[in-house]
Amino acid sequence: MIFYFSGTGNTKWVAGQIAQAIGEELLYIPDLIRKGQYEHTCHVGERIGFCFPTHGWQPPRIVREFIRRLRVNRPPQGSSDSEGEIFCWALTTCGDNMGEAMTILNKELASNPHLRGAGGQPLQAETQFAVIMPESYVCLPFMKTDSEEKEAMKIELATLQMPHIIQMIDERRSGIMELEKGATPRLYSYVIGGYFNKRMITDKKFTVDMDVCTKCGKCSRVCPVDNIKGTPPAWIHNGRCTSCLACYHYCPVHAINFGKITRKREQYYFGRR
Ligand SMILES: Cc1cc2nc3c(=O)[nH]c(=O)nc-3n(C[C@H](O)[C@H](O)[C@H](O)COP(=O)(O)O)c2cc1C
Ligand code: SF4
Ligand code: SF4
Repeated sequence: MIFYFSGTGNTKWVAGQIAQAIGEELLYIPDLIRKGQYEHTCHVGERIGFCFPTHGWQPPRIVREFIRRLRVNRPPQGSSDSEGEIFCWALTTCGDNMGEAMTILNKELASNPHLRGAGGQPLQAETQFAVIMPESYVCLPFMKTDSEEKEAMKIELATLQMPHIIQMIDERRSGIMELEKGATPRLYSYVIGGYFNKRMITDKKFTVDMDVCTKCGKCSRVCPVDNIKGTPPAWIHNGRCTSCLACYHYCPVHAINFGKITRKREQYYFGRR
């Protein structure tokens, strides 16, 4: 099974290819949260994958909260130990680099007593990948969407990367760390990312231009945490916004903004162009 989160479709695209190639179920974390489905049982030989975008050099809040509640029952021990054990892998997409996002993911996995891997040891993503994809964060002065050329180049490189990633997962290869950590990952993940995830993950700055909004309802349909009601939209501030920016990027008429900065920004989602 593959647990995934995606705001603007990059991670969905990557996770979808893996699921199709290795024949495993793709489970969208927001849907599981909506249904309260936190308990899952592995079949013999099944692999568990976590796919998510990097948010502030960490896994997104929604992914971390899901992992804290997740229970995965191990398959019954068969004649072959390796068949009975869980193989766990993780993949993050990022616009540039992901810092220590995988270290943080593994800490979350380890701190959940209901997630156990080989020999009853804490479950860990033993193989990890980062895939660079088009940028979706646009809410700071130095952050903007990629040019058309850069976007196309990133998707082309990611496409070339996929067969290898799929093969490594399919063969249950352990210890593969193909990551884009950046120059000072600890500084970015724990100091800058710590501040970012504490202070900048907020829905308080969203506004809608009433005269531009066509009342299509797309923004509330794409919100993974049901934080938007009505047309024109109103943010209900339910405390669960994960700053995925789906509401901003998917609006067909750019009626949604985050403060003033996004008025000067473009929109992106996978497959938009
Ligand atoms: C709130 C937020 C924070 C982000 N932080 C990072 C980051 O720390 N490093 C990075 O390289 N990209 C960052 N990005 C870009 C995304 O990780 C990247 O575009 C990702 O592929 C989006 O995946 P999705 O389309 O599945 O949501 C961020 C995006 C958002 C919305
Ligand atoms: S997606 Fe844009 S146009 Fe559609 S309801 Fe939301 S704000 Fe209005
Ligand atoms: S309110 Fe917007 S940014 Fe927040 S979770 Fe919903 S779609 Fe994502």
